[in-house]
Amino acid sequence: MNVETFPSADAAADRAAELIALGLQASPRLVLGLATGATPAAVYKKLVERHRKGGLSFAGATAFGVDEYVGLPPSDRRSYAHYLSEHLYTHVDIDRSNAFVPDGMAADAGAEAQRYERLIAAKGGIGLLLLGIGLNGHIGFNEPPGDFTSRTHVATLATVSRRAHTQYFGGESAVPAQAITMGIGTILAARRIILLATGIAKAGPVRQALLEPVSPACPASALRSHGDSICVLDEAAASALMGQTAG
Ligand code: F6R
Repeated sequence: MNVETFPSADAAADRAAELIALGLQASPRLVLGLATGATPAAVYKKLVERHRKGGLSFAGATAFGVDEYVGLPPSDRRSYAHYLSEHLYTHVDIDRSNAFVPDGMAADAGAEAQRYERLIAAKGGIGLLLLGIGLNGHIGFNEPPGDFTSRTHVATLATVSRRAHTQYFGGESAVPAQAITMGIGTILAARRIILLATGIAKAGPVRQALLEPVSPACPASALRSHGDSICVLDEAAASALMGQTAG
């Protein structure tokens, strides 16, 4: 896994946006996988800027959200469908019929997860996947212990993850208990992966993912087995690496 460290969160987001822009320029029909949350918000802002000022086009692209809460409709401001719409889709020229998020309101969430996995395959698989990392090393909502072969499925959120999302829901008990998430196997099948982590709170999980043995205890450590994965960090998130990274 290549590791790139930047002086600030803004510079790290700029690099992630640059990698996505380069991917789109090289392959206008690129299939993107997109995480949500606090970390990538700056990347989407920069992509919108590149679209407005630099003519970056998403017209031929397809996009898949990495995950969605079970029980939230796209109209709910806290849903990831709403997030991707507000942060990116409404501001660029992507064909909305090619922008997908799992349906959190599906009557059968398990069947919806399988449908989503099949849809990703039908679109040729993910070409470039942008991920964040959770405080417990989760990627998507693949909580420890992670199953490295899992495909899109219904996951139960870990307590630490629900706590981390309390701010958006006004209380831990209001955070949905489950999400539909790409599995680690789905993630590893992406042709290129960018893991973006910024801020001191991510220093521990980043260290675990990059330096400690690859283990289900840290789902993000699975990314080290991927042949084309890039970890983009700011100095705070890189601060526990002490100048060393494992393969
Ligand atoms: C969300 C997702 C999660 C987040 C992770 C970090 O779509 O896939 O794995 O990337 O929880 O979230 P932030 O960036 O809010 O710290």
